[in-house]
Amino acid sequence: MSHTNARPFLASACCLLVLGGLSLPSFGAADAVAADKLVAQLQRSPADLQAAQAEGRKSSAFCANCHGETGISRYPEVPNLAAQHPDYLLRQIDAFLTGKRKNEFMQGLMKVLSERDKAAIVLFYAAAPVQAATAPGPRAAEGEAHFAKLCARCHRDDARGGDTFPRLAGQQREYVRLSLTRYLTQSGERFYAPMTAAVTQLGRDNIDAVADYLSGLK
Ligand code: HEC
Ligand code: HEC
Repeated sequence: MSHTNARPFLASACCLLVLGGLSLPSFGAADAVAADKLVAQLQRSPADLQAAQAEGRKSSAFCANCHGETGISRYPEVPNLAAQHPDYLLRQIDAFLTGKRKNEFMQGLMKVLSERDKAAIVLFYAAAPVQAATAPGPRAAEGEAHFAKLCARCHRDDARGGDTFPRLAGQQREYVRLSLTRYLTQSGERFYAPMTAAVTQLGRDNIDAVADYLSGLK
């Protein structure tokens, strides 16, 4: 499976970093308030929320090189962030920072974000619209049945997730395949035992079917 080889992609990522003219988020000094608390605070006032989302759009200018300007990614192996849940996104940012989730580039990049940057960015992505679904893949109907049986209790019937359960509806097909294969084989980039159990029950041969189904939703 050649698509699991991220090296050419990472090489271009490094070039992006050294190129000038890209607006990197500001280096955060010791922030007083943690991002999750800030998110909760900002969500309380519609005006604050709107301002934070506008700020998040600016702070995510560099992220747009891969994740797209409104969170619809530009590469099949890069996840969409549009309409993803703030709690889930903050958890993943933390997981990169603590090294619990491994991706050399993302682990380095997350260090430049202040708590305020993180809060503004996740609020911006959470409000971004999910693009119209691509045509469901050839095994979508089969995938739907597997999903209802094995996955919906956490990711919800509509695959839109909630809180710390990621939204999967409309996610990049290749990213879904790659992620499921990693949980199945416990290749080490991420570890979450209930996901390994679910994909083991699903079986390797049905990963494509589920990816066909999820990528065609919105
Ligand atoms: C050079 C490309 C690139 C850039 C630039 C980039 N990312 Fe990523 N990002 C990735 C890849 C690839 C992954 C998937 C990592 C993996 O394989 O687990 C990812 C994963 C993530 C995830 C986890 C999403 C999920 O569904 O689990 C978050 C959150 C994230 N990135 C946020 C950001 C933010 C915020 C920025 C800007 C500050 C950014 N990224 C910039 C490539 C990039
Ligand atoms: C017990 C609850 C639970 C079940 C059942 C479950 N998931 Fe998950 N899933 C999660 C959680 C929580 C995460 C985030 C885990 C992490 O941080 O690595 C996740 C992550 C994922 C991801 C990565 C999303 C991203 O943006 O990176 C995919 C894809 C996924 N699940 C698909 C599935 C499929 C398909 C099934 C059924 C075969 C399934 N899940 C069953 C809870 C569950």
